[in-house]
Amino acid sequence: MPTIPQHIAIVMDGNGRWAKQRFLPRVAGHKQGVDALRRCANACQARGVRVLTVFAFSSENWNRPSEEVSGLMELFVSALLREAPSLLAQGVRLCVVGDRAGLSPKVLAALVNAEALTAHNTSLVFNVCFNYGGRWDIAQAAARLAARGEPITELALDRALSLAHVPDPDLLIRTGGEMRISNFLLWQAAYAELYFSSKLWPDFDEAELDAAIADYSQRERRFGKTTEQLRMLPTGT
Ligand code: FPP
Repeated sequence: MPTIPQHIAIVMDGNGRWAKQRFLPRVAGHKQGVDALRRCANACQARGVRVLTVFAFSSENWNRPSEEVSGLMELFVSALLREAPSLLAQGVRLCVVGDRAGLSPKVLAALVNAEALTAHNTSLVFNVCFNYGGRWDIAQAAARLAARGEPITELALDRALSLAHVPDPDLLIRTGGEMRISNFLLWQAAYAELYFSSKLWPDFDEAELDAAIADYSQRERRFGKTTEQLRMLPTGT
């Protein structure tokens, strides 16, 4: 039996290339990405994962062509409206994580409603990072502590970050073949196991998820300790 990570985080990369390969507009790739995300969330829940965190729109994605940005906003609103009832029925709690300043009233209303609807669910916490950046998160946490006159300690920062409601990710998956963090979960991924898949996000299926979990199961998580310490043997033997 594989060890199931409690918290999986995903950089869903490759939607644009998926669309380009089919001579489709980039937004068509993002639409397919929403389907892949629904499949993945269901599969995570079925395997007993407790938290799924995905990178849906980064602080830097505003710099994309305007039709792609507006397409992603529309897609986000329609996905929230369409999926909220089934998230509720499946026991999934949706949390939208990121900078809400700069989001349109329509986007804000859709995310606030979906969050409120699912707020009491406990089976899977589903964090959608939207207008999110790891640097933004650390800066906003530090600014909040400073405004309250609190000392900036590791623990205080940890509690002021936007993912304070969940434990740190155990497994961080990036699809699309690139091996970068791209300003995702900079603080929280300190001890995450990294897994890079060459599959484009729309093609990421249950078998790919199982391959990532199987790979994770083989890892020795030392958190700065030695193998001997983990096995409770004296060091140097
Ligand atoms: C990266 O692929 C993906 C994104 C910037 C958006 C991810 C969004 C989804 C999977 C859909 C879910 C979205 C919402 C709004 C709920 P890319 O476009 O950088 O792909 P490329 O590297 O092939 O160009």
